[in-house]
Amino acid sequence: MTDELQNTSVTSNPASDAAWWTSAVVYQIYPRSFADSNGDGIGDIGGIRSHLDYLAELGVDVIWLSPIYPSPQHDNGYDIRDYENIDPVFGDLDQFDALLAEVHDRGMKLVMDLVVNHTSDEHPWFIESASSTDNPKRDWYWWRTPGANGTPPNAWVSAFSGPAWTMDATTGEYYLHLFAAQQPDLNWENPEVRQAVYAMMRSWLDRGVDGFRMDVINLIAKRIELIDGDERGEGLGFTMGPQIHDFMAEMHREVFAGREGNFLTVGEMPGVSVEEAALFTDPARKELDMVFQFEHVSLDSGESKFDPLERDLPALKKNLAKWQYGLAATGWNSLYLDNHDQPRLVSRFGNDAEFRYESATLWALVLHLQRGTPYVYQGEEIGMTNVRFGSIEDYRDIESINHYREAVDEFDRSPASVLEGVYARGRDNARTPMQWDDTEHAGFTAGTPWIAVNPNYPVLNVLADRKSHRSVFDFYQRLIELRHSDPVVALGDFELLEPDHPQLFAFTRQRDGVTLTVVANASDEPLSEALPPQLTAGDLVLSNYPVSDELVLRPWEARLYRTR
Ligand code: NOJ
Repeated sequence: MTDELQNTSVTSNPASDAAWWTSAVVYQIYPRSFADSNGDGIGDIGGIRSHLDYLAELGVDVIWLSPIYPSPQHDNGYDIRDYENIDPVFGDLDQFDALLAEVHDRGMKLVMDLVVNHTSDEHPWFIESASSTDNPKRDWYWWRTPGANGTPPNAWVSAFSGPAWTMDATTGEYYLHLFAAQQPDLNWENPEVRQAVYAMMRSWLDRGVDGFRMDVINLIAKRIELIDGDERGEGLGFTMGPQIHDFMAEMHREVFAGREGNFLTVGEMPGVSVEEAALFTDPARKELDMVFQFEHVSLDSGESKFDPLERDLPALKKNLAKWQYGLAATGWNSLYLDNHDQPRLVSRFGNDAEFRYESATLWALVLHLQRGTPYVYQGEEIGMTNVRFGSIEDYRDIESINHYREAVDEFDRSPASVLEGVYARGRDNARTPMQWDDTEHAGFTAGTPWIAVNPNYPVLNVLADRKSHRSVFDFYQRLIELRHSDPVVALGDFELLEPDHPQLFAFTRQRDGVTLTVVANASDEPLSEALPPQLTAGDLVLSNYPVSDELVLRPWEARLYRTR
């Protein structure tokens, strides 16, 4: 084992002290693509309400909703024009309240997406801010005078291609947008901005919601003055500015302190290190419960995410283990492979053709048996796959479309090669409609879906999966039950075995004299050698193949053993 992977033999909290979310599983809904109740082709609150029993049966504890606030939808709701309402495309506040009550009636919780690094350019705050240089809200956003020759103030680029600064003709100044030009960044250094956000968060908690998933929250603190050349400081200069911990602690105090209830806060943090994450999630510091880190989903990126590299299993295992060890003594992991920004895990890390069931369940076991809170993204629980649409016209995601245009028009790359990158990594892979059954449009809508359904829906859908004796849903259900019932799954100490093995993903969890062992052959070939007997000691708790005493794992075979 390498030094980097040394488990510093940490003992975790006793179960009685553990926070409720250590044994909870979160399900993410991307509302546009989940279920449409009114035939306009876009998923909505009514659609979510009609599938709550499905989620209760799966057994998840928390539902996280991607944004449903009023929005011009340039980035599917991550560009918000009104934080205190519901976009009519999804429903209204009465329907939201009904949804919340129905979620609570089923013993589940509801967590909202909080997008406060930026607003929409149609938010009244930005409209005021843009109106003149002496408007009282001018300083709520990042305005800068042009550089020499009218150029942007610095060389930062937007996550969606092109410069991160746009000139606004009204005042002749540039504003900062780390994402689309329609998503101007708020200036968190202005205390009025912070207080306005905290008041809005309190109003959602007063309404009864159970917490927040915080969009790119480490980007709110910027090193905006250290922007050029060598002065840029670490990273890109716009993540993790020096005030970030103060902002998080202040938010916690202003929004959650003294409030009764079991809340969940998870901060999405591109570029966060394990050392920083340990600070953010140290309960004593009262900042966040957990963060989403990006290292394990960046290992297969080449020059950009659209130039993918082959999966490197040892590197992936060691990276996940680094996070397990790094947050063992203090802090907590969130566990995910899929979400609305990532390609489908079975296509990316598994084999979505011959071994779809086996590889989907293998990664489920490997993920859910780690120490942390697992997140299931809609469709993951039936093994939904990536899609390959014929042309860029079929895609809807601003990131993929802008990337395609830039690569083809400005860098002269061939459309076919650029599309290959979109097939592998584009966010629309995760955003095709939920496949409920084999009727037209997969039972997602009676109208025309806003983005086409994956053509594999006649065979890959909830109904078919649940009828099958190889049901991915059933496997997730078992994993969720195990997290609820077994404190070793929730809290046991983690140890990675065989870090350099190119096929085998194996690890143990240990607590109070009980050892759980996961052995998983993450490849299309049988394991190259028999497993040593100590790895198969004890009772077989769960497996994705018919039970066998064979010590050579079959392709994508994954087993969980328990021994005392
Ligand atoms: C991260 C979100 O997950 C992504 O979907 C969005 O485009 C950006 N933040 C900007 O809000």
